[in-house]
Amino acid sequence: MKRALRTAKQADIEQRLGRFADVLFPQEAEEPILAPAVRAAVFDWLAEIRAADALDAVGLTPRRSMLLYGPPGCGKTTLAHHFAARLGLPLACVRSESLVEASLGGTGNNISKLFDAMKATEGGAVVFFDEVDSIGSKRMNDQGASVEMASALNVMLRRIEMFGGIAMAATNRQDVLDPALWRRFNMQLSVDLPGEEERFAILRRYAAPFEPSDDDLDLLTAVTRGASPALLRALMEGVKRVLVMAERLKRPAADPVAVFAPVVAAVAPPPEVADLPALWTRGGIEDLAGLSWPWPRKD
Ligand SMILES: Nc1ncnc2c1ncn2[C@@H]1O[C@H](COP(=O)(O)OP(=O)(O)OP(=O)(O)O)[C@@H](O)[C@H]1O
Ligand SMILES: [Mg+2]
Repeated sequence: MKRALRTAKQADIEQRLGRFADVLFPQEAEEPILAPAVRAAVFDWLAEIRAADALDAVGLTPRRSMLLYGPPGCGKTTLAHHFAARLGLPLACVRSESLVEASLGGTGNNISKLFDAMKATEGGAVVFFDEVDSIGSKRMNDQGASVEMASALNVMLRRIEMFGGIAMAATNRQDVLDPALWRRFNMQLSVDLPGEEERFAILRRYAAPFEPSDDDLDLLTAVTRGASPALLRALMEGVKRVLVMAERLKRPAADPVAVFAPVVAAVAPPPEVADLPALWTRGGIEDLAGLSWPWPRKD
């Protein structure tokens, strides 16, 4: 959505939080495709928040904070945005590194300012600390910086506790995250690489409006084991781009291997991935000769 189309209230929230956060509104959210256990955990939490009054009547309060962890591109930010949208709230997606300041107490001050601004936003928002490891990392090279970070972390934990709303955070560096920070979240949810069923559904979603057969999706699912949803999306969007441009440029698109080859060459899993999906190994792309081609298109 363009800035010009914001309501006055949305513009106000953006203005208040803009220094430290990007505000993502409900109507722009998309639902991530997640493993059943993750979906269930999220569903339960939503139900719990919606039942706050009933819980309150028996002296319970809904859980209010969740840490999402897992490899890049698996849907942490997408999930936080979707979750806030399900509550009808904007997501204040805090660029954690924008809070960090070199001056003494600077980072803690920024965190306080952020929460003060959150409090002032009418109707509220879910606060989401993206890449929270940039504040809450346990490995600091120099002593001064480490003391400073510990104090910033304390401010953050205290403010999260005092904050009446929902707080989420994400990291793909759980190995360096401060254990105190980890523990202070009510829940820690792993958003990991997609399994077979999820890859199948993700490939189908991002192939639309092209409609590969189930056999074709099975084949693609098999050769993309180890790929993140973000990579699967880039792959399918790349293929769609080639298909659409081929018509226009009068290039032959009759051979699936020829269509996929430039896309596979142009997008690749990040270097830290230990087991490359077969599609990105030597000769892996030849398997795609088995696709039933061309894919029907439904508009
Ligand atoms: N589980 C998923 N289902 C469908 N699409 C997904 C999923 N995960 C990621 N995507 C797509 O991949 C892109 C990147 O996802 P996202 O930013 O949510 O990942 P992330 O886990 O936050 O990554 P990072 O650790 O790099 O911040 C988004 O455009 C999103 O549409
Ligand atoms: Mg993210």
